[in-house]
This record gives sequence, structure tokens and C-alpha cells, in this order.
Amino acid sequence: MAEMVASPQTYREGREEYSNKADYDGGSSILSTRDSFFTPSTSSSRTSAARSGASSASNYRFEHNRRYHAYRDGHYLVPNDQQEQDRMDVVHQMMYLLLDNELHLSPLKEPRRILDVGTGTGVWAIEMAFKYPNARVIGNDLSPIQVSPPPNCSFDVEDAESDWLYPTNNFDFIHTRQLLGGITNWPRFFQQAYDHIRPGGWLELQETPANPFTDTATPPPSDLPIFRVLSLLKLASLNAGRAFSDESFKSQMEEAGFVDVQETRFRIPLGPWERDSRGKEVGRYNMINFMEGLEGYSLALFTRVLGMEVEKVRELIEGAKRDGMNRKLRIYFWLVVVRGRKPEAPPAST
Ligand SMILES: C[S@@+](CC[C@H](N)C(=O)[O-])C[C@H]1O[C@@H](n2cnc3c(N)ncnc32)[C@H](O)[C@@H]1O
Repeated sequence: MAEMVASPQTYREGREEYSNKADYDGGSSILSTRDSFFTPSTSSSRTSAARSGASSASNYRFEHNRRYHAYRDGHYLVPNDQQEQDRMDVVHQMMYLLLDNELHLSPLKEPRRILDVGTGTGVWAIEMAFKYPNARVIGNDLSPIQVSPPPNCSFDVEDAESDWLYPTNNFDFIHTRQLLGGITNWPRFFQQAYDHIRPGGWLELQETPANPFTDTATPPPSDLPIFRVLSLLKLASLNAGRAFSDESFKSQMEEAGFVDVQETRFRIPLGPWERDSRGKEVGRYNMINFMEGLEGYSLALFTRVLGMEVEKVRELIEGAKRDGMNRKLRIYFWLVVVRGRKPEAPPAST
């Protein structure tokens, strides 16, 4: 197993302290650590906007024995409960392994301001804060589920689809990971990211579209439960306007004005069927990701969007999980990392 990048003990302790705090008010603790980051002209409006969201952000929605975010209820159709948080942390380790023990591929030079959009448990943001102790790292999310951060890191309750209230031309680096399913308007997302990155700064997306591939001589039958569930997931997320299958980030970033845009792909096998030890290890992580994540990704989409009965959904998922364990199917997905730079400002005219 890959080692945690930084201070795993602190991270776990933080999680425990947080999850046991029934009366936690995400707003005040988040705001108190981050106000100093904002310029005086933006801090007051930002404070009131964030507080109004954060104050009710932990009045979670419970449905079919899973817990969902409350702020902008219904915007993101994947749970935020312990099971999903544990899955996110497993995926963090898997990504770290896939990127050859790196947290990002963009060529950063002493970044000072970093934003992680859709930070989840905050594990990436926290590890970036350890890696770049002179940087200020902000993570934002619809759910206040993050652990206690180190002093140079803080978390906001935010919807990335709202107007961003951070200063423009500000961040050295903006990062997202597994944000598919949370954004309806990607062109607007890229435009906002562009506006808030400083000239010369970088945007990086690390996404795992839910498109399965197989490495078999003859394709397996397409009506196997695993392929049926994944194609329903594609259909339902498309119908909901938040496709889990989108892969067009490179062209969209170029359209937004980013330059030097590069896409790198890493194969993510499902299960330990590859020959090399690294492929096997990634496959094991991905098997946990799949087993723990499939219900969370499907349940609300299939019941709320496709109108399926919950029992039927669970039955399908059980079949898909059985297929997932079948090494002979040699299923894999892609991790797509796309990074690009905002051009330097043109020289001032004399
Ligand atoms: C699959 S998790 C990934 C978390 C984290 N980026 C990671 O890789 O560990 C997706 C996260 O994005 C958040 N999210 C989805 N849509 C969002 C939005 N519109 N604004 C802010 N956060 C959002 C979800 O609440 C969830 O925590």
C-alpha cells in the first residue's frame, strides 16, 4: 500500500473529532480561519454569502439509508456520508499511486494561493498545505465534511456553480478531482476558473469518467449487469444535466483561453488482473472504490431521475458488483488529467 503523503495520524484524528461533533456549525469555524485571506473589499460580502450557506449546510437529507448534502439540496446526487468519505480517501491513495507519488502534474513554482474546488474530505488540500507550507490552500465544497486543517489551509461551504467571490487574477493553482456529476455548466466553470487564476497560473482537472473498457480479445456481452448499471449511470447523469461520462475538458479549457493544455491518461484496472505489481495495486484500490461507491453513485440518480424502485436498483448493483469481481472481464477505466496555463498578461503599452 502507498504511504499517506503527510501526517495521516493528524488527518484521522481530525476526522474523528469532527464527526463526533453533533452541534458543529460549519459556518463559524470555516469563516474564522479564512477571512484574513480575502482583500478588505471582498471579505464582507463573501462572509455573509458563505455564512448563509454554511449555517444550514449540515441539515443533511437522508434517503434510502444514505446521507446527502443540504446546501443547494439536490445539486449533487452522490452521498456525503462516512461510506462515501472513506471511498474518497481510498481514491486519493489510488490517484497518488497513479501519478507516481505526486499530488498534481502542473509545473508549480512556489505557489502561494491554491484552490481545490469540490474538496470532499479535504485530504488533497491538506496534503498540498503540507507540501507547500508557504502557500494558503482553500478547499470548497457543498458539504462541510472536512477534517481539522493545518493553519495554512481552510475550507468553505460553496457551490462552484455560483458566482465565485474570490478575488480575480488571484490563484497560482486551481485543482479539481472527481468533480464530474457536480457541474452542469462546464464552460462557465472554466471561465470562472480562468478569471480567478493569476496570469501564468495553472488549472488542473483529475477526472475518472464512468466509461468502462475491456482488455479482452472478444468483447464480453454488453447486457451484463455491470455494463447495464454503467450505461444507466451515463443516461441518468446526462438526463440530470451532470454527465459522469464527459471527457471533453481539453478543448473546453482551450476555448476558455488556457494555453499549453495537455491531457495525460492513466489506466485504472478494476481488480488485480494486470500482470505488473503496480497495476495490481491500483486494481485493488479501484475494486474498493467500485464496491463502496457504486451504490452511492447510482441510488439517487436511478430513483430520482429514472424513477426506478430502490429494491430494483439494489438488485442491479449486486449483480454489477459480482461482475466487478470477475477478473476475466479485464475491465478498466481512465484517469484523465488535464492541465493548462493562463497566459501571462500582455506587456503594458508605453
Ligand atoms: C467524488 S467527491 C471528490 C472529492 C475530492 N475532490 C477528492 O478527490 O477527494 C466530489 C465532491 O465534489 C463536491 N461537489 C459536487 N458538486 C459541487 C459543486 N457544484 N460545488 C462544490 N462542490 C461540489 C461534492 O460535494 C463532493 O464532496
